Amino acid sequence: MPSPTSPIGIFDSGVGGISVLRAIREQMPAESVSYFGDQGHVPYGSRSLEEIQSFSEAITRFLLEHEAKIIVVACNTASAAALKYLREKFPDVQFVGMEPAVKPAAEHTHTGKVGVLATPATFQGALYASVVERFANGVELFQSTCPGLVQQIEHGNLHGRETRRILEEALLPMLEKNIDTVVLGCTHYPFVIPLIQRIVGDAKRVRVIDPAPAVARQTGRLLEAEGMRNLSGQRGDVRFYTSGDPEALRSLLPMLLGEMGDVAEVKWSNGHVVR
Ligand code: DGL
Repeated sequence: MPSPTSPIGIFDSGVGGISVLRAIREQMPAESVSYFGDQGHVPYGSRSLEEIQSFSEAITRFLLEHEAKIIVVACNTASAAALKYLREKFPDVQFVGMEPAVKPAAEHTHTGKVGVLATPATFQGALYASVVERFANGVELFQSTCPGLVQQIEHGNLHGRETRRILEEALLPMLEKNIDTVVLGCTHYPFVIPLIQRIVGDAKRVRVIDPAPAVARQTGRLLEAEGMRNLSGQRGDVRFYTSGDPEALRSLLPMLLGEMGDVAEVKWSNGHVVR
């Protein structure tokens, strides 16, 4: 049975969820974390709903076997495809999911025009349609899937020429439409905020919304309500599991997280995750 000292389980298709992990480390440094990056299957954004659901279910099982006390689905694509499914499959488990931050964007915009960057699967899902229907009244949304951006970020290419080209292709037409807010609907994208901000101008002109701090706060609230916060004064450990190349992940951690963690390799076998 998980206890307050058990880890928070976080997963994503790859390194994107580290943007959420970073916010959780800042807000709740005493919490230990088990982070699962399914880098053997990244990107999720062009996969089918069923496939993303079965990956998400197996990863959740793996994290629960490793004593996770709550599961943070730090991936918009997996949240869009599988959050409802996971809540039905694991009724006793607390999940925190992601949805594109259309609500705060609609509240903030003065021009009434907002850019949204997310994966194809996120845009196609019912979750996005419902967020738009509930919160985007009177606001015009301009969407881009930024093809290839997730892969650039997976390779640690946060500033290079190709990354800039992809972002300019997405953002320059939106700027022409007079957007004043950009929603990052994919957890990989906060890592390129400095580059995005260079393209769109300073934050006073165009605000870029990173949902990670709000997701970390929500995780803290849920743990608090269950009496599951780790209140020890010591800093928690972070342990990474990847279905990709552990060496490659290790080398990106200083840049993406600013600290090291233990990295273990896992394998997929008949739809299950094994060590
Ligand atoms: N980080 C992911 C998201 O938030 C998914 C990227 C991908 O694998 O396509 O949507």
